[in-house]
This record gives sequence, structure tokens and C-alpha cells, in this order.
Amino acid sequence: MQGKSSRSKPACRVRWPVDVLRLPGRTMSLRERYGMGKDEQRQRQEFLGIGQDDERNVRALRDIFADFGEEFARRFYDHLLAHEHTREFLRDEKTLAKLQKLQVEYFDSLLAGRFDDDYFESRLRVGQAHQRVGLEPAWYLGAYNQYVQLSFPHFAQALGKDPDRFLPLLLSLVKVIFLDIGLALDTYFFEATEQLRSRNHELQQALALYWQSQRREEQLRKLVSHEVRGGLAAVITSLEDLQETIADAIEPSDREELKNVVQRCWSLSNLLKEMLAPQAPAGPMWVDTAEIFESLASRFQLYTGEKQVQLQLPEHPPRVWADPVQLREVFANLVANAVRYLDKDPGKVTITAHPDGEFVAFCVADNGPGIPDEWQTQIFEPFVRGPAAAKSPEGTGLGLSFVRSAVEQAGGRVWVESKVGEGSRFWFTVPRVSPEQRGGH
Ligand code: HEM
Repeated sequence: MQGKSSRSKPACRVRWPVDVLRLPGRTMSLRERYGMGKDEQRQRQEFLGIGQDDERNVRALRDIFADFGEEFARRFYDHLLAHEHTREFLRDEKTLAKLQKLQVEYFDSLLAGRFDDDYFESRLRVGQAHQRVGLEPAWYLGAYNQYVQLSFPHFAQALGKDPDRFLPLLLSLVKVIFLDIGLALDTYFFEATEQLRSRNHELQQALALYWQSQRREEQLRKLVSHEVRGGLAAVITSLEDLQETIADAIEPSDREELKNVVQRCWSLSNLLKEMLAPQAPAGPMWVDTAEIFESLASRFQLYTGEKQVQLQLPEHPPRVWADPVQLREVFANLVANAVRYLDKDPGKVTITAHPDGEFVAFCVADNGPGIPDEWQTQIFEPFVRGPAAAKSPEGTGLGLSFVRSAVEQAGGRVWVESKVGEGSRFWFTVPRVSPEQRGGH
């Protein structure tokens, strides 16, 4: 191996993610950010066998490159313009002209044969610039191939085609190109890890918010249970007392009316009891969806409030293999969601069921405002609320993400079809065979 021979033990620290202290009043260099200190730099060069001979060798190519730089840059970008994945980044002529100049400077600095802090810093910065514009690493790293393909024949030609002369120089150049490729990879790995970390952080926050909202709901459930059901029970007792005491003194039609009122109070009290009961998932079992739709219909007015909305349910509700509590909540969320954004009078929510192999595909369709294409994949993410949400501030932004997780957990899938102005159709599938019937998987 040429050049520096000090062999230190390989650093066995974790390089990603790197936790570095930010010192006040000083911008952190990318070398610090990526953990690319002197030791790491030296080890990289040692591994590639880059030594002083190589530094000299690449410098010997510098003058030859000076005459070739412009042609090199032109052909380099001709190649990128000929491929769809790279062409899209070079639409603007000014940018292209700027990049051609920068490309020549980049190659030239590689041939300067000075692999110091500044060199490493500049390589990491260039890598980061590409990661930031969203260029996939395959195209970025693959473009280094053009360095070899375009410059090697030129260098070989200029050096008189004598292999003893040009081969060592070109081999040194290959080492340095690999050094650059490694640094480019580093920036992508590091930035991707950082992004994952921050997504993870957001997810943790979302979860914390979710649990917070669950706790609030539980508190509210207890409060309503105590205040409203308690109050209702007192009203029922008074009405029943009244029924007894004045039964003989009133007309039969009034007696009947009073009996109806007491009955309605009882069914209201039962409905509240059902709604306020903690909803522990029951686990998958055979579920007759007729019962789910019945419960949905009895709650429907709670979702619609003052709005005029027609609810249409499947004529032949199928039997499915599902967790009944989760399935009821999936329907409740989709229906409440459809009703919330309805902008037509009368609004319409139609639920249909269609056999689909081992599944039933349910569709909850509405004649609401519809969802623009660009939102359709996002709305199942936690806390994402479409543009119509601005007009309807209630809602947590968690309903559809709950729907997706419940449906996927049960082995189904969920998707939306929608046209702005015409309404939306939310589809989801639920197994209609038990795991045993499916052969246990
Ligand atoms: C051998 C591989 C490549 C090298 C050495 C290279 C070199 C450079 C350099 C030196 C810069 C300036 C960075 C800065 O502002 O600090 C740059 C920017 C840029 N490069 Fe590359 N490039 C390579 C591959 C590619 C490829 C394949 C594309 C795809 C079209 C591309 C597109 C761009 C774009 C769009 C910018 C501007 C970034 C910004 O606006 O900050 N590059 N490149």
C-alpha cells in the first residue's frame, strides 16, 4: 500500500446516526455532522490505497483535463439529458450552463490531489445538494461511470497509448473516484437516517396525541355517563311515578302518549349505555352485518344533526369474519366522515356490499364535495385532513388512519375513488371466510 502507513484499529463506533453537540455561535461542518473526522478520512483513503503516489498521479492528469473539460461537461450532461430520470432535473437552461461549469471545477479539484478537510467537506456538500433535490442515488452514483467512460479514452490518447505510462495514472484516478462515490453514499445514508428519525419523532408525537385524545374521550364518556344518563334516569323515575299517580285522571290517548314518552326515554338511555360502554376489541368472529347496520342506523341522527341526509344500507347484508366492535367503528368513522363534509341538500350516503373472492368489498359512497387527486393517497395518514376540512373544523384527523389500520389488521385493504364535485366512494374489504376455510393463513 502506498502513502500513509499508520494502521490504527478500525473505529468501532456507530456512525449513523451521529449525535454531535451543536456549539453555540458556530455552524457545524458537514464533516462533524456526518462523523467524518480526521481518523475516518484517513481510514477511507487507506482502504482505497490512496497514497502520495496517487496524489502525484492524478495531478499529472490535470493539465490534460484542462483542454478537455468543456467537451467532457457537454458529453456528461448529454448523457444525463438522454435519460428520463435525470433529464427532469435539467429542464432549465441556466441551471444546465451553471452545472456544466461546476462539473468541470469538480473534476479539476479531484485532479488537484489534495484530500484534506476542505476536500471532504466539499464532497459531502455536493452529495447533500443532490440528496436535497431528490435525485435518486442510483442515478447520482451511476453518473460517476461517465467520468470513467468519457475521460479514460481521452487521457489514454493524450498519454500516447503507452499502458506503462497511463495505466498507473488511471488506476489512481479510479481510487479517487471511488473515494467520492463513498462520500456521496454517506450523505444519502445519513440524510435518509435523519429523515427516518424525524418521521419517527413525528409518529411518537402523533401517538402521544392519540392517547391524549383517548384519555379525554374516556373522561368525557364518564362525565356524560354520570350527568346525562343519571339525569335521564331521574326523568324516567318521575315520569313513571306520574304514570301511576295520574293514570286514572287522564284520557286514554294521553296515557298512551305518556307511555310512549317513557319508552322513548328508555331506548335513549339504552342507546347511551351502548355508546358509552368502553369499546374493547372482541377479536375476529362471524358477524352478521345486519346488526352492525341496525346499530349504525340508530346512531345516524347523531352524525347528521340538522343536516338532511339519506342513508341507504345494503339490501342483503352479508356475513363476514371480523371483529364486530372494530367493524362497527370502521363504518361509523366512514359514515361520520361522509356526513361531516356533505355540501348537497339532501345529502346521500349509500353503503353497498359486493362479494370479491374470499372477501366482501364494502363501499361507503357519498354525494359530497369529493377529494382532489393529490389528497387521495394522503388522507389515510394520521392528522392529514383534506381541503374540505377547513370548512369543517371538527374531527381529529385520525378517523381514516384508524379505518386503514383496523381494515389492514383484519387482512383487508382500503382505498378511495373520488371526483371533485361528484362525491367519494370509500372501499374496504373484509374476509368472508374464516382462517380455517382459507387453509389456516
Ligand atoms: C458524477 C456525478 C455528479 C457530480 C460529480 C455532480 C456535481 C455537481 C456539483 C459540483 C454541483 C454543485 C453543488 C453545490 O451547489 O454545492 C451539482 C449540483 C447539481 N447536480 Fe450534480 N453531479 C453529479 C450527478 C448529477 C446527476 C446524475 C444529476 C441529475 C440530473 C445532477 C443534477 C444536479 C442538480 C439538479 C444540481 C443542483 C443542486 C442545487 O440546486 O443545489 N447531478 N452537481
